[in-house]
Amino acid sequence: MRGPRTAVGPGWEAHLAVHHLGHFTLTALLAPALAEGARVVGLSSAGHFLSDMRWEDPHFAQPDAYDQWTAYGQSKTAVSLAALHLDGLLAPRGAHAFSVHPGSILTPLQREVPLRTRRRLGWVVGEDDRPAPGFKTPEQGAATAVWAATSPLLEGHGGAYCQDCDIAAPADSDDMLRGGVKPWVLDRGAAERLWWWSAGATGVGAVL
Ligand SMILES: NC(=O)c1ccc[n+]([C@@H]2O[C@H](COP(=O)([O-])OP(=O)(O)OC[C@H]3O[C@@H](n4cnc5c(N)ncnc54)[C@H](OP(=O)(O)O)[C@@H]3O)[C@@H](O)[C@H]2O)c1
Repeated sequence: MRGPRTAVGPGWEAHLAVHHLGHFTLTALLAPALAEGARVVGLSSAGHFLSDMRWEDPHFAQPDAYDQWTAYGQSKTAVSLAALHLDGLLAPRGAHAFSVHPGSILTPLQREVPLRTRRRLGWVVGEDDRPAPGFKTPEQGAATAVWAATSPLLEGHGGAYCQDCDIAAPADSDDMLRGGVKPWVLDRGAAERLWWWSAGATGVGAVL
């Protein structure tokens, strides 16, 4: 998260490559094993608030276009859109896909965010830099992913974006700690576009 501009493979932006294209490839190659009852859960984030897909320049090739938060946000939007389209592909065989915002949890994910920035953003408080109110423990952070992988309450809700062990409500603010889901993450047209764009980039996923 929030890494410096890094190109991997054939010039792919690293957040998009690590968070989306890598998992897209793994999932597409595992697809033959995804039988009835299987679930795929993508770790998205409230960070999706920070960016829709940047279709005109997803890899930040334009000079000076790179922004660390935008790159993280786009990659998390991609994770959710991929789950949305994958669900439609898997549904006829009784398998499903979901995406999850785990909550805000202090983990090594924040290693590229300097401590002074974590303090300024209010992620840590007090002289001991303890997690701010509203942050979850790692165990609590794992709960929604486990719920998405197992809960019968999700039957009939394939492709949903989840948080706090529930289907997320539409976001009513730009407060990522409050959460919710932005409309671009629920856009089925964009989800299909991303799927085919990713299949073209990776060479897998055209047929599941
Ligand atoms: N923590 C939060 O508040 C939060 C909030 C919303 C969403 N999420 C999402 O939850 C997922 C798990 O995050 P986490 O909080 O559990 O963090 P974590 O414990 O730091 O796990 C992140 C994992 O990603 C790997 N990784 C980091 N940089 C990488 C790179 N450039 N290439 C390949 N692998 C890399 C790490 O491996 P190495 O350490 O070996 O590099 C580690 O296994 C992430 O997708 C994150 O976006 C987390």
